[in-house]
Amino acid sequence: MLGPGEIDTGVSRRFLVVYAIAATGRVMSRITFVEHDGTVHEVDVESGSSLMKAAIDNLVPGIDADCGGECSCATCHVVLTNDWFERLGSPADREEEMLDMNPERQRTSRLACQIPVSEELEGIEVQLPEFQF
Ligand code: FES
Repeated sequence: MLGPGEIDTGVSRRFLVVYAIAATGRVMSRITFVEHDGTVHEVDVESGSSLMKAAIDNLVPGIDADCGGECSCATCHVVLTNDWFERLGSPADREEEMLDMNPERQRTSRLACQIPVSEELEGIEVQLPEFQF
């Protein structure tokens, strides 16, 4: 099903990703941000970025990133699905400390600035918590 403003080109997403890699040498991953009210933002992000930067660069609301990715503000809080949380591994000590300061923390909470984008993130979906809006 097509979203608002999307056009059916008859070309598969997989073809477009392979074509983009071949044409540019860059690997792009499709990331989906979901606001607390269900609003969906799908963005294509180049490897080497971070989930936080992906949100900021694509004007996704709910990610302030006040510290610019230095893991010292926790305004880039996202909540992952159980599956993605397990796949990405545990947060580092500094990220744990920052998350622990937030009473809204959930078991699968992460800081988006601490999640690097790679092709392994293709298809990830993250929730944007209401308290951050
Ligand atoms: S941007 Fe500040 S902790 Fe992530």
